[in-house]
Amino acid sequence: MNPALRHDYLAALGLESWVARTAAPGGREAGVDWPELKSRVAACTRCALCASRTQTVFGVGDPRAQWLVVGEAPGAEEDRQGEPFVGRAGQLLNSMLRAIGLAREQVYIANVLKCRPPGNRDPSPTEAAQCLPYLEQQIALLKPKIMLAVGRIAAQNLLHTDVTLGRLRQQVHHFGLSQVPLVVTYHPAYLLRTPTDKRKAWEDLKFARGVCARV
Ligand code: URA
Repeated sequence: MNPALRHDYLAALGLESWVARTAAPGGREAGVDWPELKSRVAACTRCALCASRTQTVFGVGDPRAQWLVVGEAPGAEEDRQGEPFVGRAGQLLNSMLRAIGLAREQVYIANVLKCRPPGNRDPSPTEAAQCLPYLEQQIALLKPKIMLAVGRIAAQNLLHTDVTLGRLRQQVHHFGLSQVPLVVTYHPAYLLRTPTDKRKAWEDLKFARGVCARV
């Protein structure tokens, strides 16, 4: 049966789709390297988003980067180009990184979801749960010094909380089993709509830079 259809049937029955054993929770499977992980993501059918995506958006950047920036999910432009943060929000993200002395090419950029939710709706809890093991595997390979979660949706999914972004920022959190230090800031798309909060985002970036310097 078509995996997306199977997912829909199971969801209608209130059941979660199975996840193949190769996708060990926590992404701790031995031996997976970047090319293998990328091809697994490209072939992924764990959730119904596989039916509507143009392509998966794996992530981009320096595989030896110290910084891992994590957004929510690909938008329309990212779905078309196969790269995260390539639209207007991506340009602002690049400027934010430059402000703390980092070129886009020096960091690694990924999302909680590897596929675009139709209409740019928020990721569902099931989609996030099915997709997060891929991010965990990326983290296991990258071993970043710091993670920067941009936006409420990314932060809440990474930290498994429903605490507001306003209360999550300006603190050092730790991600998952790896306990990578994680700092939260505003999503660049939000900052495009609310430029008065750019000053707070600047404070967050300086805070994150200080955390990274201490690790
Ligand atoms: N917003 C995100 O959260 N991620 C992207 O890749 C693009 C826009």
